[in-house]
Amino acid sequence: MAAEIISGTEMARTIREELRIGVEEFKRSVGRPPGLATVLVGSDPASQAYVRMKKRAAVDLGMYSRQIELDREITEDELLGWIEGLNADPDIHGILVQLPLPPQIRKNRILEAIHPAKDVDGFHPINVGRMAVGDPAALAPCTPLGVVEMLVRSGIQTRGRHAVVVGRSDIVGKPMGSMLLGTGPGGDATVTVTHILTQDLASHTRMADILIVAAGHPSLITADMVKPGVVVIDVGVNRVADSSREKGYRLTGDVAFDEVREVASVITPVPGGVGPMTIAMLMSNTLKAARSLNRAMA
Ligand code: GUN
Repeated sequence: MAAEIISGTEMARTIREELRIGVEEFKRSVGRPPGLATVLVGSDPASQAYVRMKKRAAVDLGMYSRQIELDREITEDELLGWIEGLNADPDIHGILVQLPLPPQIRKNRILEAIHPAKDVDGFHPINVGRMAVGDPAALAPCTPLGVVEMLVRSGIQTRGRHAVVVGRSDIVGKPMGSMLLGTGPGGDATVTVTHILTQDLASHTRMADILIVAAGHPSLITADMVKPGVVVIDVGVNRVADSSREKGYRLTGDVAFDEVREVASVITPVPGGVGPMTIAMLMSNTLKAARSLNRAMA
């Protein structure tokens, strides 16, 4: 029997409705909305599209949104100046610098300059550390947070089960492993993190009760690489050429969806899976940051 499909689009809608109430309450008690600043350097079309979606989601929830668009030739010091301004701005509770950044800018210098309390991407070393030790005050990265939320809301048990992560990026793979290993709902798993240098990848993926794929390779995971009944979460977003589409491409995940669906028990689609959940978690982090900054001021 074909796997059940978890709709991230629908789940994210439910989460946004929950957040809308929280945003209203915040506005009533504080007198101003939670504010999110997005910083985009250069004009990469995919990054532009992501930033646009994030801004739209914030505005839709009644948040304040500020979009800063900077020339791709900007210097590191100039960009740091923008970050300092946003750190000091009381209308801004969340700062997101869209990655990747151009080569003249050292990514880590920028991510470390964002005030940890406004770091809604969860990329600052302070938040990475807090998350690793299970501190609930941590602002955690939105994509793995969205995956955990999907598992928990779908009633998928992680406790004691074998979760295999494919990909070791700082944005998804590493924090994903850390969250699954942590204690509590969506955690307590036995975790294997694999990556591009892993030998015989299929021998690992076949062991998975829960398989989370964030490798950036279309159709990397095929039906012969998974065991029957596996839960498959596809984090990949790949643009593949498709002349039948108006844009000349279509989005596809890292999992060969049609064939793996025949073996798995649960699977997430691309698009409409983890993507919308990531944005919902960014909104959740922005509200969390706003509440926490407001408490600190009181
Ligand atoms: N680029 C790709 N994914 C992300 C993300 O989650 N946050 C930011 N800031 N940039 C990204």
